Amino acid sequence: MTFQGFTGSGAFQFVGNINLRFGGGSAQTLPAELKALGVRKPFVMIDPGVHQAGVAAPILKALEGAGVAATVFTEIEPNPRDDTIHRAFEVAKASGCDGIVGVGGGSAMDSAKGVGLLLTNGGAIADYDGINKVGNDLPPVVAIPTTAGTGSEVTANAALTRSSDHYKMSLRSPRLLPKVAIVDPLLLKTLPRGVAAASGLDALTHAIEGYLSVRASPLSDFFALRAMELLALNVRAFVANPENLEAASSMALGSMLAGLVVSNTGTGNDHALARALGGLCDITHGVATAMLLPHVMAFNASARPERYVDIARAVGIAAHGTPREVAARTVDEMHQLLRDLDLPLRLRDVGVAEDKVPALVEVAIKNVGPNPRRTAAKDLEAILKAVY
Ligand SMILES: [Fe+2]
Repeated sequence: MTFQGFTGSGAFQFVGNINLRFGGGSAQTLPAELKALGVRKPFVMIDPGVHQAGVAAPILKALEGAGVAATVFTEIEPNPRDDTIHRAFEVAKASGCDGIVGVGGGSAMDSAKGVGLLLTNGGAIADYDGINKVGNDLPPVVAIPTTAGTGSEVTANAALTRSSDHYKMSLRSPRLLPKVAIVDPLLLKTLPRGVAAASGLDALTHAIEGYLSVRASPLSDFFALRAMELLALNVRAFVANPENLEAASSMALGSMLAGLVVSNTGTGNDHALARALGGLCDITHGVATAMLLPHVMAFNASARPERYVDIARAVGIAAHGTPREVAARTVDEMHQLLRDLDLPLRLRDVGVAEDKVPALVEVAIKNVGPNPRRTAAKDLEAILKAVY
């Protein structure tokens, strides 16, 4: 890794809250963590698939063993909608809870943030779409990821879909940062192959988009490069066998670091398009980000070619030749990674009709944010057609 030095004025901001319990078995510390936070009646939101697979059972048993009166809520869908959050909020309020726990992937953790937000701020989820709209602190939120993916356990974001028009909102405020993140790689061991692959690629996309973002800083760069290394060098072994604790720990740490990155750098065209695909076509976030990744990287290569050399080194491929050659090889490696992990490669494979492209572009163009290469609607259309 070469430190590229400061660019521009050298000024940057970095906001984070790493209050972390990491390691196999760390989920067992939840009762003690809740006690330390003064939470006596937690509202525990668990992803239904995770609940059914029994992944949360040891956590619930630990709560029961400690005599904690928890209310469990499992009606969370992928790409969670605001009306679901409003329903969960009614249950949470009626339970008299004084803290929220999110157990699952991004959807469960973001839903926990959404319910916490409503408990102390009132109103509707859509009122808080955008940056810094949250006026009051949330009740303590504890995030326990069961995928190595979003990094939502350390992000100040919540991605929630507005039911009225299927728009995927992005709520961003430091008040959405969980008070404690409990990252237990043992919780990943029963992940289905497709989920392990898609969520792992989402995390890798965070690291790469964060590193290429125009808002990248020297501090986010450190985390981004290390995250790329941890994720790219371990994702194949992890997907092959999520019970491989070394690979699972690397993925869990890598996805958390990548979450810390995007919480500060924002994301680019990949996530702009993936959010549109999630909102309008209900495509799983990780599947969407993964299939877009090589195409968006190819589009962005001309904007920051020198950074592709660092990416190549981090993901373990040869970095000799011109930056342009290295960028092309890096893009090829991403295609290869998708094939190796049996991820869907084309939009048509996940049931997105070609006539959806204009509507997807219309939504995504509002969201291109800190993408390194300036992007017009026709560029997004070309990317989607290439993925189609
Ligand atoms: Fe993502």
